[in-house]
Amino acid sequence: MMARQLTVLVLAAGRGTRMRSAVAKVLHPVLGRPLIAWPLAVARALPASRRGVVVGHQAEAVSKVLPVGFEVVLQRQTLGTGHAVRQARRLFAGEGDTVVLSGDTPLLTAATVRRLLAGHRRRRATVSFLTARLADPSGYGRVVRDARGEVRAIVEHDDADAATRRIDEVNAGVYCFDNRFLGRALGRLRAANRQEEFYLTDIIAAAVGSSLAVVGVPCDDPEEMLGVNDRLQLARVHDVLRRRVLERLMRAGVTVVDPGSTWVEPGVRVGADSVLFPGATLQGGTVVGAGCHIGPHTRVRDSRIAPGSVITDCCVIEEAAIGPRCHVGPFAHLRPGTRLAAGVRVGNFVETKKARLKAGAKANHLSYLGDAEIGRRTNVGAGTITCNYDGYSKFKTVIGDDVFIGSDTQLVAPVRVGKGALVAAGTTVTKDVPAGALVLSRTAQKTVAGWAARRRERLGKK
Ligand code: UD1
Ligand code: CA
Repeated sequence: MMARQLTVLVLAAGRGTRMRSAVAKVLHPVLGRPLIAWPLAVARALPASRRGVVVGHQAEAVSKVLPVGFEVVLQRQTLGTGHAVRQARRLFAGEGDTVVLSGDTPLLTAATVRRLLAGHRRRRATVSFLTARLADPSGYGRVVRDARGEVRAIVEHDDADAATRRIDEVNAGVYCFDNRFLGRALGRLRAANRQEEFYLTDIIAAAVGSSLAVVGVPCDDPEEMLGVNDRLQLARVHDVLRRRVLERLMRAGVTVVDPGSTWVEPGVRVGADSVLFPGATLQGGTVVGAGCHIGPHTRVRDSRIAPGSVITDCCVIEEAAIGPRCHVGPFAHLRPGTRLAAGVRVGNFVETKKARLKAGAKANHLSYLGDAEIGRRTNVGAGTITCNYDGYSKFKTVIGDDVFIGSDTQLVAPVRVGKGALVAAGTTVTKDVPAGALVLSRTAQKTVAGWAARRRERLGKK
């Protein structure tokens, strides 16, 4: 038997009024991704032949974050969830089933939707939908069942009487419809309700009225159903997703010292025996090798950290590559294009940008290294600054192996320092330094014997 056609629709046209935001609800970031990215990932994981997203409010901005493989359907006026699905009817013409997801339920998993779909097909149901029992069901549509436990209708919170509002089984907003029925039923929807909207949920009672098979499937994990309608719910789902990622890492052998304050985005990988200290934030495509320490309040974005490296407190690391056994921080800022080879040390108040530090190089204190190449075992003294910018263009500083750069040095780029050279403290290097040379630029020191003592006497001080 040929598999039935499957369409997946994600509804994302609503205004999200309760967010009280200038930004469309589905664009609010959740663990580093727009809210809508989460249901889209579920939609992608389903064996569908067509995938669509209904956009409306801020359609252009929302369309920009949609991945390839989704057909965009415009709902010009947001007249309700039923109206939204109707706009997408060309995607479910013909035999088959359609799964409808909401753009605002990021905790839902593909496994749960697959179970719903499998049950729907096994029973040859007309409509199947997920339900959840919530301690606080307010705001959700309530699932009304008869004495035998069969679904009769979904009643929206705003339209529910006091008795119906006491029902704690809610509609999760995840449905499976038979295509033929869906097309017919949408055409008959009326907006005769408190919100004057075409409710997708009215289809349930319509199917029941026609004696068609309607199944409300309780979900094993009601948490998956949590929707984001306001910022309180946004914070709640954020927390659930954050903990899901941390639990996966901990099971894989990562120590998370304080899960409550640690933030790891889902695309991040962390090797076993690494330790994440309180306030650690790992973002984007960051990869941390085995046996690393990521210090308290350090943030790492889109960077690679090789095994055995220690990043201590309060560092910011962005688009950088850190080799094995490096030591970074506290208070270091590694900006895009930073590359540290094995065993490099970068200390407090050091900022790097497009800087390559070769194996064993050290820049331990108070420096700016931009557009620079630093040789093996070279020591960059405290207060060293690469003057890489003349107000218009950037220039490069190239320092060879085994160089000693004294404290408080300025390197006015473009400039090169040959290997084994020594730059004396306080020097402003403006010309290339040959290998093995000493370079120093400072005014000669003047010493006046007894001057300080005479001054104290003159002023009558001790
Ligand atoms: C909806 C359900 C409710 C369910 C809840 C679960 C309806 C009428 N109610 O309520 O039974 O308990 O979800 O989370 O369906 N949207 C559009 N176009 C529109 C209106 C909405 O695309 O015209 C989209 C929204 O962007 C959102 C989704 O549909 O992603 C749900 O809309 P929302 O207004 O959040 O519905 P709820 O009030 O949460
Ligand atoms: Ca909602």
